[in-house]
Amino acid sequence: MSLETRGGRFITFEGIDGAGKSTQIASVVDRLRGRGLEVVQSREPGGTPLAEKLRELVLHEAMHLETEALLMFAARREHLASVIEPALARGAWVVCDRFSDATYAYQVGGRGLDADKFRVLERWVHPALQPDLSFLFDVEPAIAAQRIAQGRADTDRFECEQRDFFERVRAAYLLRAQESNGRFVVIDASRTPQAITDDVLAILNTRLS
Ligand code: TYD
Repeated sequence: MSLETRGGRFITFEGIDGAGKSTQIASVVDRLRGRGLEVVQSREPGGTPLAEKLRELVLHEAMHLETEALLMFAARREHLASVIEPALARGAWVVCDRFSDATYAYQVGGRGLDADKFRVLERWVHPALQPDLSFLFDVEPAIAAQRIAQGRADTDRFECEQRDFFERVRAAYLLRAQESNGRFVVIDASRTPQAITDDVLAILNTRLS
């Protein structure tokens, strides 16, 4: 079946802060819309008015690591119910900046949350749903840190973390990708934005057609 005639698909973008996801998401969304597809672009934590309020809290208030994980999944439950599930049900494509793989990488890998607790929450909040395709933008934390420093004035609680935190997040992402049965494509995100976009669009064409 061609890209245009299949039902909805769920595509996620993952990577450590500063990996350059945002530019790539915009290219993919443009490309899919150019094919006449209905594309819902969203992000986590966030994507609904309530989930965006939870995002504000979780990115800026100090809290226990389990509170942080629970708020990520609370925001996700809301996002799934109001945006993701209805969009997929009507055959739209959903392109999302982060999903549960980010909770695995940041809360389990970065913060040390018990992996079994993560799995309980994941099974509770989306027992039957995983993305159809996940791009992991993989880059050394040193390069990502330079990009963050050049790019913006205001940093959140995660962007302020030290290099070793991002080393752990990166390792957890790579492990999750390895164990994903091919759901993940790992992209070398140390290259130029154009080279990465070319790669991403080529993969999208072959993987989803
Ligand atoms: P991000 O999505 O990268 O937005 P921006 O481009 O505006 O910085 O930032 C969200 C932050 O939230 C990022 O540091 C990763 C973190 N995060 C988690 O720790 N766990 C999660 O489950 C999600 C979805 C995000």
